[in-house]
Amino acid sequence: MWWKNATVYQIYPASFKDSNGDGIGDIPGIHSQLDYIQSLGVDAIWLCPIYDSPQHDMGYDVSNYEAIYPPYGTVEDVEKLIAACHARGLRILMDLVVNHTSDEHAWFQESRSSLSSPKRDWYIWRPPRLDAAGQRRPPNNWRSCFGGSAWAWDEATGEYYLHLFAAQQPDLNWENPATRAAIYAAALEFWLRKGIDGFRVDTANTYSKHTSFPDAPVSNPAHEYQYASPLFCNGPRIHDYLREMAAILKKYNAMTVGELPLTPNPADVLAYVSAQESQLDMVFQFDIVELGTGPDMRYHTTPRNWTLPDLKARVQATQALMDGTTDGWSTAFLENHDQGRSISRWGCETTPSLWSASAKLLCILVTTLSGTLFLYQGQEIGMVNAPLSWDIDTEYKDVESKNYYAFVRASSSSSSSSSALAAAKSALQHLARDHARLPMQWDGTPHAGFTVPDATPWMRAHDNHPDINVKRQTLDAHSVLSFWKKMLSIRKAYPDVFARGVFAHVDPEDERLFMFEKRGEGRRVLVVLNFRDEVQEVRLEGLLGGRYELLVSNNVEIGEGEGMSMHVLQPYEARVYLV
Ligand code: NOJ
Repeated sequence: MWWKNATVYQIYPASFKDSNGDGIGDIPGIHSQLDYIQSLGVDAIWLCPIYDSPQHDMGYDVSNYEAIYPPYGTVEDVEKLIAACHARGLRILMDLVVNHTSDEHAWFQESRSSLSSPKRDWYIWRPPRLDAAGQRRPPNNWRSCFGGSAWAWDEATGEYYLHLFAAQQPDLNWENPATRAAIYAAALEFWLRKGIDGFRVDTANTYSKHTSFPDAPVSNPAHEYQYASPLFCNGPRIHDYLREMAAILKKYNAMTVGELPLTPNPADVLAYVSAQESQLDMVFQFDIVELGTGPDMRYHTTPRNWTLPDLKARVQATQALMDGTTDGWSTAFLENHDQGRSISRWGCETTPSLWSASAKLLCILVTTLSGTLFLYQGQEIGMVNAPLSWDIDTEYKDVESKNYYAFVRASSSSSSSSSALAAAKSALQHLARDHARLPMQWDGTPHAGFTVPDATPWMRAHDNHPDINVKRQTLDAHSVLSFWKKMLSIRKAYPDVFARGVFAHVDPEDERLFMFEKRGEGRRVLVVLNFRDEVQEVRLEGLLGGRYELLVSNNVEIGEGEGMSMHVLQPYEARVYLV
């Protein structure tokens, strides 16, 4: 199993590297940066969706699984990329988006063409409900993940179709075996035959719905549509479907990492990733990345409302799966294309030195955790969120951000609207998915070297790119980038303790320091993280017993191999000791 000790580098194709000056990243652009990717010390890349798509949700609305979105390139470009990765010993994963298609997919076009279409049942159609006044209403009260009803009315055939995400993303009906067979042929086997090494499986726990479509409990009486995720995640037949899909993947020896929203209970997670179950090889749990998000609506929250014990508990929850008592496996990650940047959420950007220290502290945190490690493009150079001064209406592009902002604007009265919009803006500046989608910062030239100077990039490059970029950090032995490379090689050198060790808290309630132990085969490490922007003292003697030898630190002032001499931790100082 190549993936247990592996690090996977996640690429957001639109924002990684533009090779032809149209302002949109592309496959040849990714190809041109394989030397850089490999220099990080990663083992595989994962490409977010590159299939043909009208891009209502950045390619998570696929209109043809067997074609590439033209601005990204061609199927042949992908074949070349697969060959080039393999020639270097890099694996390549693609995104598998099969809960829904685009409404422009031929299957849906056929499905919506008439009530008697042979593909009618490939999607989820239901007649309207009538309210007390005899008015047509959606079949139930579910709110879609992007706001509004989860059902869209189709005038031509007089029924609603289900869309857990945007109206342009109709949900496939997995109950129908013919639909499943078509999904496996087009979305999986077409690409597996081309030699890809596996898939990141989008919303892996939503394919099976309760076919009676019960109403969600009314958690917010002021809203017409209600939070319904617990009703559509982990449905009755989900494990059967995943087992069926895994049987196909197995023929190609392909690896899977499933996205697993709304599954906080470790026993439920284990049902997906237990080796004996043969469903998914690992999952992305949401415990850490959801810290600080609103419970009913993700952006209905205030920035930095979390405490260190909260964060510790969530780290522990994801590590528990790999405590040596289960046959399950999971992942370690702090960022992806759906999250604000980790430094902006849990680190500090107020000065360059705190930015650098906290970027390295977060690097130490995630690279010392068990599970397959996922590194998101730009995380390795410490990219941060766009500033509060950026206008939501013009600079933010994501359907989720736009819909939320429009919802707040529409639902607040004129007297409350400026404070409601300010609160929404502040939450979006902290958590919106847009931040991770800003162009990759290659250098200090216009548009951060992501595209040619006279192009208009599809998203504006961060104004800080003259300071934070790959070129500059490659030349600096103490940069965030150099630190990531170092940590990835240390992780490789001690796989038993970092990638596969057993995690244990030192003091889960301590509000100032995050300390944990990782236990490997015959050795242990102690990780000490100062999560504050102030100096702190730490007493290590007697904590875990044994002698401590410093393995690595983000403080250049203390040399490696230096032992217990320094007990004062600088702001955001992080250390790893061999015990
Ligand atoms: C999860 C993906 O990561 C996200 O970007 C997308 O919007 C939804 N699934 C819907 O496919």
